[in-house]
Amino acid sequence: MKYQDIIYEKKDNVAVITINRPDKLNVLTNNTAKEIMDALVKADMDDDVRVIIITGSGRAFCAGIDVSEFAEMMKDRFKFYKGRRRWLEIYKIANEIENTLKPTIAAVNGYALGGGFEIALSCDIIIASEKAQFGFPEVTLGGMPGAGGTQRLGELIGKNRVKELIFTGKRITAEEGYKMGFVNKVVKAEELMNEAFSLAESIAKNAPIAVMLAKIAINKGFETSLDIGLSYENDLNFILYFTEDREEGLKAFREKRTPEFKGR
Ligand code: COA
Repeated sequence: MKYQDIIYEKKDNVAVITINRPDKLNVLTNNTAKEIMDALVKADMDDDVRVIIITGSGRAFCAGIDVSEFAEMMKDRFKFYKGRRRWLEIYKIANEIENTLKPTIAAVNGYALGGGFEIALSCDIIIASEKAQFGFPEVTLGGMPGAGGTQRLGELIGKNRVKELIFTGKRITAEEGYKMGFVNKVVKAEELMNEAFSLAESIAKNAPIAVMLAKIAINKGFETSLDIGLSYENDLNFILYFTEDREEGLKAFREKRTPEFKGR
């Protein structure tokens, strides 16, 4: 697939997906969403890629769904409603990111609003520039978050804080996001990508299958009971004993050297 709205790059073991419609604040059209999903599959299937960074170009990470596309959809609302699971790629994107097997980092450079906030929340880790702003402005436009905003934030900051953000539609700073607990780290704007790469590298040097299975166990744990979560953890942990990397990790420890993990 040839990309028009995103840039896909690889540096060492890190893939970077940059949403690249800066004049429109990187808002999501169906095409942008399709391209991001294509790039996610590409990164997930590439043995050289161990971590995926998602960022935006210009002054926005992503200012949400391109509302100009809604006018067309509103012309035949019943058809729009019936087809809601089929043709709105935009609403699938957060799930696709969350279900990506490799760890994902959102490097939030500016506005992360609506669907943009939902993309950031579906990543495993959020690093934000001090210039970043987060918010769910949907109700100010007569809508509501539709790609996980009402669901994914609660477990990070609590139900009442999510309600305040969604009901008011107000924007908050990266620092406020950090204090609330959904931003992992706030950095100077010019250091954002270096910080994201440095974090990505500190993950990429570890055993990829171990990181992947730990991600699955953590995510499942938030969706299920403690008993089932612990059972997932137990099964996945013991699967690691079949991997060459587990052997290599233990051997390197005994030999007092850095392990060389191969993802096998
Ligand atoms: N859909 C479509 N176009 C959008 C957009 C969106 N969600 N958000 C921004 N844009 C476009 C603007 O129309 C403008 O295009 P133009 O130059 O052709 O007129 C361009 O992006 C730049 O935005 P602008 O509003 O001029 O920048 P600003 O700095 O004055 O304001 C925001 C920035 C983010 C505060 C403002 O653009 C905004 O509120 N956007 C809507 C965000 C939103 O509601 N997202 C959720 C949608 S459900």
